[in-house]
Amino acid sequence: MSEKKRILVCGGAGFIGSNFANFHKNDYDVIALDNLFLGDPRNLDEGVNFIEGDACKTEDLDKVGSVDYILNLAGTSSQPMFNGDGLVSGYVNSVESFMRVLEWGQKNDVKKVLYASTSSLYANNPLPLIETQEVIPPNHYAVTKMLYEGASRCFNAVHPEMEIIGFRFMSIYGPNEEAKGEFANLISQFVWDIARGLRPMIYGDGSQTRDFTNVLDVVQAVTLAMESKSHLGANVFNIGTGNSVSLNEITDAIYKAFGKENDAEHIENPIKESYIQDQYADITKIQDALNFAPGVKLEDGIKQQVENLRIERIRHSSSDLMRGMK
Ligand SMILES: NC(=O)c1ccc[n+]([C@@H]2O[C@H](COP(=O)([O-])OP(=O)(O)OC[C@H]3O[C@@H](n4cnc5c(N)ncnc54)[C@H](O)[C@@H]3O)[C@@H](O)[C@H]2O)c1
Repeated sequence: MSEKKRILVCGGAGFIGSNFANFHKNDYDVIALDNLFLGDPRNLDEGVNFIEGDACKTEDLDKVGSVDYILNLAGTSSQPMFNGDGLVSGYVNSVESFMRVLEWGQKNDVKKVLYASTSSLYANNPLPLIETQEVIPPNHYAVTKMLYEGASRCFNAVHPEMEIIGFRFMSIYGPNEEAKGEFANLISQFVWDIARGLRPMIYGDGSQTRDFTNVLDVVQAVTLAMESKSHLGANVFNIGTGNSVSLNEITDAIYKAFGKENDAEHIENPIKESYIQDQYADITKIQDALNFAPGVKLEDGIKQQVENLRIERIRHSSSDLMRGMK
């Protein structure tokens, strides 16, 4: 019997990383490396190897041993983390971990690195959002991801034997977000609010839309790229559903899953500039290249989150997190 291939998931105890690691725990040898800035090892199923370590540090990466693939999800994972004192540490963590992972992968004969970019790069570009559009990153978080994409192209040009494939995730929701606390997706925040007897707060009239994509569809897309025999080089793909759903539709579905009438509170939108009103992806590129077909229905994904509540695991305060980043 041939040995299982090995995957290193950097940021593997986090939201997307743990879902990916758990999904592959039987067919691959999966190692989740995470410094627990935001992750929680309780997200990981038995069968996934967990290493507490920092992707910025070669000595921590060396603990992993040789791997076939790397999925890099480490880094500073949303714009609010760059606010105030988080600015420089946010950049350093994202850039240093990414470049260290590429360097380590190349030196250790890794065949493919897959990594998270973001749809935030698109800002308020015309819809649908498509990879060929010019992008001007609207905030520091998006700048770090643009840097990932540029660095990957340069790195792959010098080391073509290691493919480096990026994914511009749309608005991803699903289980294992409790450790992200207030940085979690709106769907998680709304579910937790209702479960705690609070009314979800919506900015404005709730007509704004996002391309809400279940994390299992992200797992599908990344897996297709990882296992593809086609040469993908340093390509970047949108991952989304291609549909836009309003926040009113989201709260309707969540309240329905709780068996209640929609009672969300609407407040004036405090974000005056550059607020994203609508979002949906053109996913033709990944459909054509990899036969990606998002399959999780929004109502099913929401129902699953409502039925599997773990309120006690939610991280409440971000101030401790910010202190931890310095
Ligand atoms: N969730 C979304 O909707 C979404 C959308 C677009 C892009 N992304 C990107 O996808 C990636 C994963 O997102 P997520 O939602 O799972 O976020 P997350 O914060 O849950 O996961 C990131 C994980 O990386 C860990 N980490 C951070 N720096 C590290 C380091 N130096 N070494 C080791 N571990 C480190 C954190 O502890 C955390 O567990 C992020 O890069 C994020 O920017 C996410």
